[in-house]
Amino acid sequence: MTTVQDDLGDVEAGDVPVRRISFTINGQKKVAEVEPRLLLVHLIRRGVGLTGTHMGCDTTNCGACTVLVDGKAIKSCTMLAVQADGHEIATVESLATASELHPLQEGFKEEHGLQCGFCTPGMMMAAKQLLDANPDPTEEEIRWALSGNLCRCTGYQNIVKSVLWAAAKLRAEAQA
Ligand code: FES
Ligand code: FES
Repeated sequence: MTTVQDDLGDVEAGDVPVRRISFTINGQKKVAEVEPRLLLVHLIRRGVGLTGTHMGCDTTNCGACTVLVDGKAIKSCTMLAVQADGHEIATVESLATASELHPLQEGFKEEHGLQCGFCTPGMMMAAKQLLDANPDPTEEEIRWALSGNLCRCTGYQNIVKSVLWAAAKLRAEAQA
């Protein structure tokens, strides 16, 4: 079991209330003891050790921390870890298999959708939610789906092209 507490300052660890939660992340069942104030992004990064989920702003603006909870894209800096109790989380690490990239990852490679790469995990998870629901999105629908994700390198054009590339590949795979 993982125990994760936030920066305790001068407080003794034993004086801090914790709550036991269980959740599934990328198909693996986990149990953790967390402080009620702990953010989901910290549970994912520090507790589970999955550092693909980035934290950019910590204020619900940038979307770098986007993960899927029960298939819905959420900003994990805006959700408490205790709220994940009983739910299923998917992070960017869930996309690739041991031998193959996910079409979204291929698309970002083919269409040069990543620059510094900091926003990329969040972009991919927001795009995954879109493509799971809408396999043939328009450019406008992609831009709308990614509107909660900021790229500080400001190159949105190739990000949109990357998602279009992935959508086409996923459709081709579905028809094969
Ligand atoms: Fe969560 Fe920026 S770190 S929205
Ligand atoms: Fe640098 Fe998006 S690629 S923030």
